[in-house]
Amino acid sequence: MRTYYNGEITKANLGEAVTLFGWVNKIRKLGGLIFIDLRDTSGIVQVVVRPEMDFFEFAETITNESVIKITGKVILRESPNYKIPTGEIEVDTDSIELLSKSDPLPIDKNSNDEIRLKYRYLDLRREEFQKIFKTKSKVLSIVRNYLNENHFIECETPVLCKSTPEGARDYLVPSRIFKGEFYALPQSPQILKQLLMVAGMDRYYQIAKCFRDEDLRADRQPEFTQIDIETSFLEQDELLSILEGLYRKVFKEILNVDLPNPFPKMKYDDAIRDYGSDKPDTRFGLKLEHFDLFKNIDSPLFSNKYVVGIRVKDESGFYSRKKIDEATEYIKKHGGSNLLFIKKNNNEYSGSILKLLDEKTLEELNLENSEVLFLTTHDSYLKASNSMGSLRLKVGSDLGLIDRTIYDFKWIYEFPLFELSDDGSISSTHHPFTRPLKEHEKYLLSDPLKVYSYAYDMVAFGYELGGGSLRIYDNDIQKKVFEVLNISEEQQRAKFGYLLDAMNYGFPPHGGAAFGLERLMMVLTGTDNIRDVIMFPKTTTAQDLMLDCPSEVDDSQLEELGIAIRK
Ligand code: AMO
Repeated sequence: MRTYYNGEITKANLGEAVTLFGWVNKIRKLGGLIFIDLRDTSGIVQVVVRPEMDFFEFAETITNESVIKITGKVILRESPNYKIPTGEIEVDTDSIELLSKSDPLPIDKNSNDEIRLKYRYLDLRREEFQKIFKTKSKVLSIVRNYLNENHFIECETPVLCKSTPEGARDYLVPSRIFKGEFYALPQSPQILKQLLMVAGMDRYYQIAKCFRDEDLRADRQPEFTQIDIETSFLEQDELLSILEGLYRKVFKEILNVDLPNPFPKMKYDDAIRDYGSDKPDTRFGLKLEHFDLFKNIDSPLFSNKYVVGIRVKDESGFYSRKKIDEATEYIKKHGGSNLLFIKKNNNEYSGSILKLLDEKTLEELNLENSEVLFLTTHDSYLKASNSMGSLRLKVGSDLGLIDRTIYDFKWIYEFPLFELSDDGSISSTHHPFTRPLKEHEKYLLSDPLKVYSYAYDMVAFGYELGGGSLRIYDNDIQKKVFEVLNISEEQQRAKFGYLLDAMNYGFPPHGGAAFGLERLMMVLTGTDNIRDVIMFPKTTTAQDLMLDCPSEVDDSQLEELGIAIRK
């Protein structure tokens, strides 16, 4: 039987007989002795084999990463290594057993992503991964404890279900019994958790697997986990206080960091105005400025356009012509139509639009020496602001302005209920069950884009960590929202009939939120790649390189499902 985890043995165990198991992290011969670094999930201990032992020659043949069992005695090390917790002792071996031999590993630190993902189970042996996933397990236990203590009930909702409207494509599962019909994997348990409020569960939570077939990015995976929450009878601020309490607890226990209490709140409109983003990184300044004073300039660049800018102190002269060209490319990639600039150095102005500006306008810009004013213009207020918001992030990072000691947790709230797509159609900003502000209900049909909602996102470090809303619990308002979204009564019944029915049987006022567990882990561990915090992640093309899927299936399986493949 194992007596200790390898990483736990210290001077306190001197003289003890131990039985240890683990992987050979490294084996080397030195001064006639064999040293084995024996690794398990807790760490490494040094094991020494003396030449007089009859298994000495056998020990020499053991390969790295093989699994062995040893017995021996804990002794003091001649040359201690104070860098590791077990560095003052070693284990003098009196038996060694090879349990499983390892071939040379197909990966190492320098292998590319593809090969590391193929052999993910080997990559996971690395200490950094062991640490991340132990933290993840601890986070989940803190989350569960906190919610249990606050009267939440852990619930499970089905994974084979019906399409939910979170805006991405569904992963579909064909039905064998009802050929031509499909289940959808949940994009979120949204409607089901609302129905649990009808069922009187009062406070629901679920560590819920969600599936979305959407374009992947560094912070998105097709399969991810939500800390999903729904509550009845709470006002928005009561709910937000419970939700932020969870994050305060996690950050205190994992990082010993005190998050603000309460979290600051910023209205969506103010976030767009000041930062050009609904998930602003507020760890640095460079707030957006909106200019009226270009209105009178006779140039197609400015006529009838929104003009948005940031004022950048550039004492080191970072923004050379080349860097400004790069910034121009960048803003265009992020939906902007142009990048204009004016610089002031030694009281001299220069810049791309200098010729267009008269003296008075220049003066009104109030530029200081070594300042660059970046401007962009656009027909759309949102596009002008958002694209300048993206450039703001790049400038913040280029000039090292981000204060990484700040935990800028906050709520962005009062989102518009609807948004206008490029094709002129109206869609929900979050989802169609979000409750409009009471005082805006009257504009639902007449001026829907004027309607704001009880929706909120938790944002930190420029990430959306989670979001939610108070929900509609009144059939009449729900129908109006569907009408604005151009969802016919027939479609309403087909898609959400069960929710509309439930509204007739005593639906409590309710609201909730969902937080991406992976996003939380990214922030806690300081990685900007979501794959680092998922044990078996998918590539950006949604493939699992280890399982080698998606993959083709047998013709007989397709036949059973009534499916023919169209290539
Ligand atoms: P939403 O769609 O905003 O809301 O998702 C909530 C949170 O889930 C995380 N998230 C993701 N994480 C990784 N990969 C993805 N593809 C991905 N998509 C979303 C984010 C996000 O903030 N039902 C609503 C919540 C509610 O209203 O209660 C919902 O799913 O952290």
